[in-house]
Amino acid sequence: MPLKEYFEFYAPTKVMYGYNVVQDTGAEAEALGCGAALILTDEGVMGAGLLEKVRKSIEESSVELVDVYDAVPVNSEVEVCREIAEIGRKAGVDCLISVGGGSVIDTGKGANILLGVGGDLLEDWQGTHLVPEPLKNHIAIPTTAGTGAEVTLGAVIKHTPAGQKVTFNSKYLLPDVAMLDPGLTESMPPGLTAATGIDALTHAVESFSSMEHSPPSDAFSYYCVRSIMENLPIAVEDGSDLEARGNMLVAANLAGMALSTTLSIGACHAMAHAAGGLSPVTHGVANAIILPVVLEFNMEYCTDRYAALASATGVDVSGLDEFEAAGRVIEAITGFIARFGMPRSLKEAGADPALAERMTEEAMGDGQMYGNPREAEFEDILALYERLLS
Ligand SMILES: [Fe+2]
Repeated sequence: MPLKEYFEFYAPTKVMYGYNVVQDTGAEAEALGCGAALILTDEGVMGAGLLEKVRKSIEESSVELVDVYDAVPVNSEVEVCREIAEIGRKAGVDCLISVGGGSVIDTGKGANILLGVGGDLLEDWQGTHLVPEPLKNHIAIPTTAGTGAEVTLGAVIKHTPAGQKVTFNSKYLLPDVAMLDPGLTESMPPGLTAATGIDALTHAVESFSSMEHSPPSDAFSYYCVRSIMENLPIAVEDGSDLEARGNMLVAANLAGMALSTTLSIGACHAMAHAAGGLSPVTHGVANAIILPVVLEFNMEYCTDRYAALASATGVDVSGLDEFEAAGRVIEAITGFIARFGMPRSLKEAGADPALAERMTEEAMGDGQMYGNPREAEFEDILALYERLLS
């Protein structure tokens, strides 16, 4: 297999895994040299009591806990980033601790840009590699196993007035520490477990077939496809199975590294971002709906890559040619997604069919599109949306 002419792999985040590992949050903040910390989270995390060990650990350390912001919305918002940065600035915060799903962690990244270098989030920092210098310390503690945001250099944040999702990519957005504690994912309900797990699976599959894939992203992606297909059904069936929960957290984390290394993973994510910005469809559900049609759309352009996932997806392809093997892999992934009973179309998930063209415009401009293995025209993506919205 020919190597890419150039690739880079950059993963400076300290990743810690273990049951109750969040008891070390205070010690980690101390080790980073922090003096004043602000926790960001959402109502769900608060309601489930997931914050207590983190809070206690900070309170027992030499780091001052200046505030807990618990109103991060389901889809992170530019305005919320501004609000948190303002609170942090006034209190002299030098450490953000994000406890939650991808929305909370991405909100932490957006707020950290404003806290660290100021300016206007949309005007100054939207795009790739624009943040000029290191930001404040950031400890990311995921409570879902999906986005891998705790180790990605990107943040996708909703800009409400226009309804689009805006992207920020910078090595300075990589959190300093990621704490993976399976105990924090134990209470996730089956539907959220499935949706976030399919997001992680999509990161892995799309990274593997991306034009931007490289040996490090391949290694992570391959492992993650296998681990997610083994462990997600168990975690959905029995949320208290800590081994499955732990495996899912680790797989989502490594899929996040694949995504972060690849940077542009493909059309499914571009389309899911647009669908999520313009409709109530959550990111994981959008991926579950869109991935099967994008796999079909790409099939002839990355047959070898899909075929290479055969053993990771548990498919026996002995005696088959590459095209047949790739077809079996697509069938396996599509069948795997279907077993979780999520909506099968964007329309069924609550999206307005009249928005097909608007979604296409957004998806075509999304940074995840250029890595798609098949160059997609406006009419191609419109046709896929129309199929999923009818
Ligand atoms: Fe994603």
